Amino acid sequence: MIFDTHAHYDDAAFDEDREEVIGRFGELGIGAVTDPGSTMESLDRIIALVGAHANIYGALGIHPSECAEMTEKDLERIRQGLRLPKMVAVGEIGLDYHWDTPERKLQQHWFRRQLDLAREEGKPVIIHSRDAAADTLQILRECRAEEIGGVIHCYSYSAELAPEFWRMGFFLGVGGVVTFRNGKKLKETVRKTPLERIVLETDSPYMAPEPHRGERNSSLLLRYVVRQIAEIKELPAEAVVEQTWKNACRLYRMEECKGAGKSAATTQA
Ligand code: NI
Repeated sequence: MIFDTHAHYDDAAFDEDREEVIGRFGELGIGAVTDPGSTMESLDRIIALVGAHANIYGALGIHPSECAEMTEKDLERIRQGLRLPKMVAVGEIGLDYHWDTPERKLQQHWFRRQLDLAREEGKPVIIHSRDAAADTLQILRECRAEEIGGVIHCYSYSAELAPEFWRMGFFLGVGGVVTFRNGKKLKETVRKTPLERIVLETDSPYMAPEPHRGERNSSLLLRYVVRQIAEIKELPAEAVVEQTWKNACRLYRMEECKGAGKSAATTQA
């Protein structure tokens, strides 16, 4: 079964047909999905989704571009949410110097505070890091992130930098970009990174793979990403699916699905 480690089904882009899309997971081999938070508003939506669907897991956290108004009170609400069943990670958190707002000091503050939270609650983290490699690595090192663990979602840095993250025990999230004609850097990273350090993700509704680039993305399109990774790694698609399923279960510490992920029943919480 395919594990989509990062998809935003709480997004308004799915308001029209959310149940229909989730209802088709089985037929396309999607065994489990993690829906990460980005704002305080997304928190309640994710709690509801996770409660309603056996194959959807949740992560809670504030995206760096959304942290301008964040408070310690919000952090406590996130902490309470993380203690609910099937909440597997803190995220997405990190640094975004591409949009570069709010100011970097504030992004760094809430990144650290949410790393603290993850450590205290014993959860891995989902990292969003864009145009901020050096500061991300520095903060991860300062916060002894190797003891926390997690995933660098939508990995966009060089193949040379990747070992800095996976030697800290982190996984690299690979999605639609690997199928893009201009996705050479990520293809190179996939070639050089052990398959044991890679997890599949969509970032739905964004980042749809070729030949659906520009359309609304969903887990139903992940097979194109699987096919591309299989081609790069010169492996059968099934081997990529099985290994990345195991990796995702290790990442999110889901004991119940550590098997080969061959049956939908193993994904029930
Ligand atoms: Ni995301």
